[in-house]
Formats: sequence, C-alpha cells, structure tokens
Amino acid sequence: MLGPCGLVGYPLGHSLSPFIHQAFAAQFEETLRYTRFEVLAFETVVARFFADGGTGLNVTLPYKGASFDLVVESDRLARQAGAVNTLFQHNGVLHGTNTDGVGLVQDLTENLGLPLAGRRILILGAGGAVRGILGPLLFSGAEEIVLWNRTAARAEQLVGRYSNAAPGATPVRLFRPGRRREPGADLVIHATSAGLNAELPDIKAEQVAGSLCYDLMYGEPARGFRQWAQAAGAQAVYDGLGMLVCQAALSFRIWHGLEPDIPSVLEQVRQKISNAQAD
Ligand code: ATR
Repeated sequence: MLGPCGLVGYPLGHSLSPFIHQAFAAQFEETLRYTRFEVLAFETVVARFFADGGTGLNVTLPYKGASFDLVVESDRLARQAGAVNTLFQHNGVLHGTNTDGVGLVQDLTENLGLPLAGRRILILGAGGAVRGILGPLLFSGAEEIVLWNRTAARAEQLVGRYSNAAPGATPVRLFRPGRRREPGADLVIHATSAGLNAELPDIKAEQVAGSLCYDLMYGEPARGFRQWAQAAGAQAVYDGLGMLVCQAALSFRIWHGLEPDIPSVLEQVRQKISNAQAD
C-alpha cells in the first residue's frame, strides 16, 4: 500500500485525479488511498493531513497561490509560477513544487510528438494558468513566446517579468494589436478561463489558421475553443487531458519514487470519459 495522497480544492467537481493516481498505483500492483478534500479550510486540512502521516497532496484552484505561501521550501518551478500544485514533506518540512508546466511540455513533446525547439508560440491568457506553464516553456528551446490577453496590461506585466528570465531563455513579447497581422504561430496555447463560461477569446481566425492549437482545459470547457479553432483552419487541436496525466505522473514520482507509464493511463482516462458520455 502506497502512502496516502489526495487533492485539495474548491469546488472539485468530477476530478479525474483519484482515477489517474489509482491507475498509476495499479501498474506497480499497489493500492493507494487518494482522497478528495473539497474544503474551504485549506491550511487546516493540509496541516492535519501531514500530521496524520499523509505522503502528498495535489492542490488545485483556488489554492495554488495559498499553497505557495504555505510551504517552507519551494523549488524554481514553484517560484517561477508563484504557485504550488504538489505538496510533500521532507524531514518534517513542508515542500512545494509545480508540475503543470513540465507536464504540458512533456505532453506536447513526448505524447503528441511536437518538438518545441525553434517554434513560435502564441499564448492566449495571462492569469494563474499561464504563470504555471511559462517557466518550463521558456526553457523548451522555442524561438519566441507571444502573449495575448483580453486585458493587455496583465500580459504586459508578465512580459516585464519574464522577458529577461535567464540567459538562453526564449524571448517573451506582447501580441501587437495594432499590426495588420501578427505572423502566424506554430503553436497556439489557449490558457484563458473563457471556456468555463462558454465564452471564447476575441481573436481573429487568422491567428490560428494553419497552427497547432492546444487548450489547457479538457472536456466541456474545452469544446468551444476546439470547435472554433477547427472551423478557423487550425492544423490540429488538442485538449489538456494529456497535460493532466503528465503532471499527475510527476507528482506520483515525487511522492512514491515510481515512474508510471503515461500513455496507457491516458488511454484509460479517455476510455472512462467516453464510457461516461455513452451512459
Ligand atoms: P486562472 O488562474 O484560471 O488563469 P485568472 O487568473 O482569473 O484565472 O485568469 C483568467 C484568464 O482568462 C485571464 O487571462 C482572463 O483575461 P483577463 O485578464 O482579461 O480577465 C482570461 N479570460 C477569462 N474570460 C475570458 C474571455 N471571455 N475572453 C478572453 N479572456 C478571458
């Protein structure tokens, strides 16, 4: 039996994380207690979980920023994101990291076979989801990262923060609204929360025509952008399910020291979703 783990957030809805972590555990013929903590008292629940001998917690909205403030030790990924999605203890000290961005890069490059080196990336959005992925994208070898946001000032802030991140990092710049046409990006990453309200970011079809598109969301909230991008002539549109499984696998490895097989679990998750839709 692996050490107890869980997910903290509010609301949690139909989270796939318990299924994913249990599927990983089954690969090692292990069982795992993975509990959903749909709570308002974030800090109390985290403290009690680790005091009771818990191994690790995933943290989701709205607590990723609060968990960054809570940890004693954070790594570079957590600091770049200003957010923590994976908690664990080491010698009684609470540690936090962020596996979202590495999970995204792993899904793009390994699951989908899309190398990022030399690619021009357009990111739509400038909220917490974008801060979570920017760090690893800056070191993926991409040629350029362009940020578009409905409220341009928020994208400008991020450009200011990341434009001189480190020697060798991909340059980050603002989308140029005044220009007749931004050159098309190789990859468009949709990272706004518009889909949660069945809305779409207000960008022109030409910005995605011929590009690969990736939505950080999956399921119903990703449907609108996917349909719009396909109709706008995107080369292909992917959802964020692979990123979800990859970031979970990174947490699993941190907590249990075991490297799960990702493609087989991704297949299981897709099957589970399509069974649920057929019901
Ligand atoms: P999260 O942590 O999920 O990223 P957030 O920090 O509130 O949440 O950021 C939400 C992002 O989605 C922002 O980039 C937001 O744009 P604004 O900064 O202009 O608010 C974007 N967003 C939400 N609804 C949108 C919509 N209908 N069209 C375009 N962008 C939208």
